[in-house]
Amino acid sequence: MTDIDRNDLAAIRAHAWTLLVRGGADRKSPLHTPVIASVDAQGLPQARVMVLRKADPASATLRLHTDARSPKVAELDGRPVAVLAYHPGEQVQLRLAGTARVLTDGEPVDAIWEQSTLFARRCYLAEHAPGTPLPGPSSGLPTWIEGQQPTAGQIGPARTNFATLWIDVTAIDWLHLANSGHRRALFRSEDGWAGAWLAP
Ligand SMILES: Cc1cc2nc3c(=O)[nH]c(=O)nc-3n(C[C@H](O)[C@H](O)[C@H](O)COP(=O)(O)O)c2cc1C
Repeated sequence: MTDIDRNDLAAIRAHAWTLLVRGGADRKSPLHTPVIASVDAQGLPQARVMVLRKADPASATLRLHTDARSPKVAELDGRPVAVLAYHPGEQVQLRLAGTARVLTDGEPVDAIWEQSTLFARRCYLAEHAPGTPLPGPSSGLPTWIEGQQPTAGQIGPARTNFATLWIDVTAIDWLHLANSGHRRALFRSEDGWAGAWLAP
């Protein structure tokens, strides 16, 4: 567990972002796979695990990747989103609130696509939108690419299915559990991220 002053709001806020940045960069971090929650067209909650690709404290944004055909794209674009992650080593739960943006075109998305591995990009060769009923068990990939890494030429058509999901974080609810005394703090952009203590 990192040695920070858990009675110091500024230290807590900085550490929360340190954990998120590490979550985006380190596959072994428990914050690499947060739960992203949205509200569907029926007003029902929908939550799913997604890979955190990057967290940027300067802009208070997170970046994730998804299939542009996925139902969550329409559920999330321009709408409120909640992010939930727990770091057992730090005994910290992070509950983030924000607004989601989906970007599919343009130079930054093209660059992110090019930087992804061919295996990572292979998912976007799937023949049907995520959640489409299938007649039997299947990976959803065309059979010619099952178990294989695509070539740069083969992956081209998959680009159209690739979407980046950006979350503009507006609040971070930080909870630390400890026998010596739990602590909970809420940081909000509208308060300039100053932070305030909450009952755990
Ligand atoms: C460890 C793990 C990582 C995942 N990463 C992603 C991801 O980065 N992007 C994504 O769209 N789905 C990811 N998924 C799959 C989603 O949880 C979900 O099943 C899928 O996106 C369909 O969700 P939807 O029906 O809400 O669109 C991941 C699942 C697991 C278990």
